[in-house]
Amino acid sequence: MHPTPEKVTLITGASRGIGRAIAERLAQDGFAVVVNYAKSADQAQALVQRLTQQGGRALAVQGDVSRQADVITLFERAVAEFGRLDVLVNNAGIGAFGVPLENITDTHYDALFNTNVRGLIYASQAASQHFGDSGGHIINLSSVVGNRPAPYSAVYAATKAAVDSLTKSFAAELGPRRIRVNAVAPSLTETDGTAGMPAAFREHITQTTALGRLGTAPDIAGVVALLASPATGLMARFCTPMGACGGNPCSFHRQLVFQPIGSSAQAAEAHRRLDSRQTTGKPVFLP
Ligand SMILES: NC(=O)c1ccc[n+]([C@@H]2O[C@H](COP(=O)([O-])OP(=O)(O)OC[C@H]3O[C@@H](n4cnc5c(N)ncnc54)[C@H](OP(=O)(O)O)[C@@H]3O)[C@@H](O)[C@H]2O)c1
Repeated sequence: MHPTPEKVTLITGASRGIGRAIAERLAQDGFAVVVNYAKSADQAQALVQRLTQQGGRALAVQGDVSRQADVITLFERAVAEFGRLDVLVNNAGIGAFGVPLENITDTHYDALFNTNVRGLIYASQAASQHFGDSGGHIINLSSVVGNRPAPYSAVYAATKAAVDSLTKSFAAELGPRRIRVNAVAPSLTETDGTAGMPAAFREHITQTTALGRLGTAPDIAGVVALLASPATGLMARFCTPMGACGGNPCSFHRQLVFQPIGSSAQAAEAHRRLDSRQTTGKPVFLP
């Protein structure tokens, strides 16, 4: 029987991308880590094995955050394994770009809102029930588009605006129980989820950053670790934007067409023309 660890974190969607980097970082900081995943069992188990070999404690638990029964079981398994919960990172999310208004369907809407918003609510409810008397932390993954929506990603941006709003509401509501609620709002960050974006768009975002580079998952994980630490003990109801700091995303997005859902031929042509824009320097207006 292992002793109860001093601090425990549960990270939703930690099998890949930013969530995995957060798991690695918080494990380095001494947390026992619950690695939630929806489909990528092999990647989640590999991460747990690596963290364990490095001397940490970790557990992979499958669960779709958009299903309340899964979320309840996820938290019960976490607390049964580690005996406590201190930090929830609501990271699980689906991004969708290149979706014009006329292509927004019920399926698209439900997929994004069910995972990005409903899942965050279910997990926050469960965490608030499992935090102890000393309180806890909820750290939400928002996005810069929550505050600066752009064309062709309307539903995704709306989910992240909802995340920002929920962060503020829950922070005010849970503060008296010493539960701090904050959010991190990355700009474009290199992960599987963003690997297919057009080169011209990546270049544009890079140009809007102060440091002249895109974010990496460890960059985001570092800020999450800071928010989970006593160093930020007075911070609650706070959203930290990371990455792009300038530019005019609206005017640029109107010149771009990301891969419209269900039309790969049009997307291929769009990408070809976007890539040629990079070499010629001329703006491309796509039909
Ligand atoms: N990358 C960026 O540029 C960027 C920028 C701003 C904000 N964000 C936000 O940061 C978060 C992580 O993004 P990312 O780029 O790292 O994404 P990613 O590489 O696509 O990884 C997404 C992760 O979420 C999990 N997931 C998806 N749906 C889930 C569900 N219903 N239940 C449980 N887990 C689920 C996936 O698990 P499986 O593999 O098991 O399905 C995977 O581990 C998201 O909230 C995203 O909106 C990302």
